[in-house]
Amino acid sequence: MKVEVLKDDGLYGEFILKNSNPAFANAWRRAMKSLVPVLAVDYVDFYMNSSFLYDEVIAHRIGLIPLKTDLDKFNLQNECVCGGEGCPNCQVSLRLNVEGPRTVYSGDFVSDDPETEPVFDSIPIIELYKGQQLMLEAVARLGFGREHAKFQPVSVCVYRILADVKIKDSCSSCLKCVEICPKNVFTVENNTVVVEDGFSCTLCRDCLRVCEENAIEISETDDFHFKVESVGQMNVREVAKRALEALKSKAEEMNTLMDEL
Ligand code: F3S
Repeated sequence: MKVEVLKDDGLYGEFILKNSNPAFANAWRRAMKSLVPVLAVDYVDFYMNSSFLYDEVIAHRIGLIPLKTDLDKFNLQNECVCGGEGCPNCQVSLRLNVEGPRTVYSGDFVSDDPETEPVFDSIPIIELYKGQQLMLEAVARLGFGREHAKFQPVSVCVYRILADVKIKDSCSSCLKCVEICPKNVFTVENNTVVVEDGFSCTLCRDCLRVCEENAIEISETDDFHFKVESVGQMNVREVAKRALEALKSKAEEMNTLMDEL
């Protein structure tokens, strides 16, 4: 297996997983979404809320704010020395005390840990009118995407199987495939249909339906084109790496179990 990086601007990446299979590609995709722990607000203590929104609605909005931190600094609560009670090793508080009139943004939080803060300062939480106040403490912990979407490090994580498109000699150059292909895979050169952009083929098979000579061959390859967008807690490379580590440790766990049988 090999990975060829096509695009990587930190928060968005595209790469091709080569010589693999659907089981592994899908396991990696799922691991990036659900097995890489990130920090998110898990509960909120409200001391004052005279806004026009219920506590629950505000808490839900706060929970979805992506938080950046040094992820290796915190323990998962079920593995922490505090036994899950909550301590500085496994959770961090972010405080908010704002009075209207004004809009409250994610950047208004004051964190107990200088390294932990919202990824973006400009996420609006609520608009407070004159005389309204919001005072609260939000407690964040590490969690997995399989528990709740707020713990997902990626907002997009998809792949498609790359196709191998071939045109046989029996092609009569009727051009029906050129007209119907939604991805402009084919072009015409010297009155002959040729494959110009096989990479873009989505395996829709429309060309096979219109080709009366059966002159087109489409097959799935062992290559997978991934598109991944990070929510911001870490870059795409880091998510992909941590997901592989999670898969590796699960495979090792499985091996140990098999050996014990
Ligand atoms: Fe591919 Fe044919 Fe559709 S080349 S995109 S399967 S029309």
